[in-house]
Amino acid sequence: MRTVDALVTGGTGFIGRWLLPELTADGQRVAVLMRGESGRLGELRSWVDAHKGRGDLLHPLPGDLAAPGLRLNADDMVVARTARTIFHLGAAMSFGLPDAVARDVNVEGSLRVAELAADSPRLQRLVLATGFQHRRAPFWMPDNKYHDSKLEADTAVREYAKAHAIPLTVVHPGPVVGDSRTGETTQFWGWPDLVKALWRGRLPVAPGGNHHWMPLVAVNYVAGFIAGAASLDETVGQDYWLLHDSTPPLGELIAAVAGYLGVSAPTLHLPMPLVVLGLRSGLSRWTGLDPEALVFIGTDRFPVADAVRLAEQIGLTEPDPIELACTTTRFLLDTDFGAKTSSERPHSR
Ligand SMILES: NC(=O)c1ccc[n+]([C@@H]2O[C@H](COP(=O)([O-])OP(=O)(O)OC[C@H]3O[C@@H](n4cnc5c(N)ncnc54)[C@H](OP(=O)(O)O)[C@@H]3O)[C@@H](O)[C@H]2O)c1
Repeated sequence: MRTVDALVTGGTGFIGRWLLPELTADGQRVAVLMRGESGRLGELRSWVDAHKGRGDLLHPLPGDLAAPGLRLNADDMVVARTARTIFHLGAAMSFGLPDAVARDVNVEGSLRVAELAADSPRLQRLVLATGFQHRRAPFWMPDNKYHDSKLEADTAVREYAKAHAIPLTVVHPGPVVGDSRTGETTQFWGWPDLVKALWRGRLPVAPGGNHHWMPLVAVNYVAGFIAGAASLDETVGQDYWLLHDSTPPLGELIAAVAGYLGVSAPTLHLPMPLVVLGLRSGLSRWTGLDPEALVFIGTDRFPVADAVRLAEQIGLTEPDPIELACTTTRFLLDTDFGAKTSSERPHSR
């Protein structure tokens, strides 16, 4: 392939994987920036085929967000610059992320992708996936370099895009869980860690009070939205919060999932600073919950109206968040929390 319609970074990841069938089913030729050995392409193509996309339309670009020029060779750089849409989903996303990695991959890497966009003569859109929280975590929360670097990358890419007249669309997914139809996920940490703790009888308290929540969103909803929004003129310069606003408070959500699992729900709510203290004083190992995960639980609400309206226009239906949580839980149990799948990616310290 000498020209492509789209370039995707993070195509081997959770959201990127679901985006590829959306794009290729539409006949788009998609370059995928990929790390690692060439054998990964076969697995990705099969996965895309199995999810109603066309693996044959994928064009691998061996590269690395953390390297100058994305470590693309000259020929691949020529191909990359033919993309009309660049979807930047690649990121280093884990707990205990070293500062240097967060900076090289998430901040500098995002700027490298923005530079590529500025040098792409056919470019019509750069889509950036970033976090859903507007601000830094409170001082008593553990450091989360992923979260901080995403905030920094968001600002840096916006400034760069403005200075170089790049048509930018920014999406802010909430914590992403499985496919709303099947529960399928390739991300087995974050929300899945809470489900696992509950299933093992190791979640004695619900984190936070009655207004704390973790706004879930289905991966197929996010992928469908990103693919649909990228081709609409009205989405240039816009931000979209992709999360199911009717997600109940965390205690209620946990109780619903406990009911689904047939286990006892925690009856005690613990203020967040005390949850942090407990996890830091040794309960992290016993519960399997990383204190850094608490950054995704809060009381802020988000401006979802524009995304909801656009999703309807694109033809997406929001799943019921409790059903979504239970469908994902079913998949987690069926796969023994990822132990029985091949596409789980490493994540933690
Ligand atoms: N999942 C969520 O809940 C969520 C919520 C809000 C925002 N987001 C954002 O959405 C985007 C996608 O998230 P995700 O959940 O799909 O993440 P993910 O599953 O962790 O996937 C990350 C992707 O980035 C790639 N990557 C990491 N380091 C790289 C490097 N140095 N060079 C090239 N590629 C690299 C990974 O490639 P390998 O396969 O080689 O590791 C993988 O394809 C990210 O920007 C994330 O911050 C995610």
